[in-house]
Amino acid sequence: MLLDKISNLFKEKYSTSGAVFAAPGRVNLIGEHTDYNLGFVLPGAIDKAIFLEIRLNGTDSFNVASVDFNEETTFKADGQKSSYSWANYIIGVIMEIKEISGKVSQGFDCVFGGNVPLGGGMSSSAALESAFAFAINELNGFGLSKMELAKVGQMAEHHYAGVRCGIMDQFASLHGEEGKLMKLDCRSLEYELVPFKLQDHKVILLDTNVKHSLASTEYNVRRGQCEEGVAAIAKRHPEVHSLRDVTPEMLEVVRSEVDPVTMMRCEYVVEENIRLSNACKALAAGDIQTFGKEMFGSHEGLSKKYAVSCQELDFLVDIAKSTPGVIGSRMMGGGFGGCTISVVANEVHDQFVQNATVEFEKQFGQKPLVYDVVISSGARRLS
Ligand code: GLA
Repeated sequence: MLLDKISNLFKEKYSTSGAVFAAPGRVNLIGEHTDYNLGFVLPGAIDKAIFLEIRLNGTDSFNVASVDFNEETTFKADGQKSSYSWANYIIGVIMEIKEISGKVSQGFDCVFGGNVPLGGGMSSSAALESAFAFAINELNGFGLSKMELAKVGQMAEHHYAGVRCGIMDQFASLHGEEGKLMKLDCRSLEYELVPFKLQDHKVILLDTNVKHSLASTEYNVRRGQCEEGVAAIAKRHPEVHSLRDVTPEMLEVVRSEVDPVTMMRCEYVVEENIRLSNACKALAAGDIQTFGKEMFGSHEGLSKKYAVSCQELDFLVDIAKSTPGVIGSRMMGGGFGGCTISVVANEVHDQFVQNATVEFEKQFGQKPLVYDVVISSGARRLS
């Protein structure tokens, strides 16, 4: 088992044991590409995590070994990047803690591993950042809040992985609670816990196995297009600072002044915030059908207007749409690969998975991976 593997290697290297921490990946039910537009998201932490065993070593050297990659490295807190991409997230976290809080972590010895699928859209990188941010904060007694640690992870992603991501993934990995989604206002950073224990339905992820590293996709391009749209709208509406502030009516007024592609990207974001709001109201009212309809709407927008889907994701959502008992389905996360998330009536679960697997394999020559989602707790110390 993963934790044994980590602890055995730690013992072998350091002849003792250390403190053990975990931070999970996340799902997001609806509200995609809205976080960096300061809108709303609805994520939850999942039962797949990065685990690490760690002890401070009283030096200024950081010794880290990855059991999954079978690689290890040593670095100092001088911001120099590593040739191992996984190490750059850790270096990023140490440097951003220093940047944001002025606190410098002692050196440490660490062994880590995880079971969040890499590049699967479940935020393995945020889990890695959050696990280290959480552990470093605890062991050094820095007293940073979870929200501050989420910002540390987000900035590590910006400056050390080259992805100008929003706050959703790191927020969810740190704040997650069992059985609860979180409706996060990405402007005020206030959030509401939303109980999410479905009786008659299951939430499933189907992983296309199309891997992405967001740095090599058009993720940053989309962010730039949103900023362009905001700049155009702000000429008439100086009070507008993000797409969060924009209404469909405002968009209509500037339509002829904005590049049509930029316009379409902005439309998607404005509509996605409205869909999320409708979906949350429906969930509160126990109206899962409407919730699911908004999920399908979200996918349509992500695929056609925001153009961050891919043929494998579209294929899986089309199968979901044509399967009675599948309430809603959409691509999840940054896009360009990764998984779909679907809400499915219990009685059609097996049949949907079977059907999607067979059809997907016929079309693309390999089976999608299937995960049942369990909404779990966020970053924590295990021992
Ligand atoms: C990635 C980013 C998040 C968010 C999603 C899209 O997961 O890390 O900040 O923008 O894409 O919703």
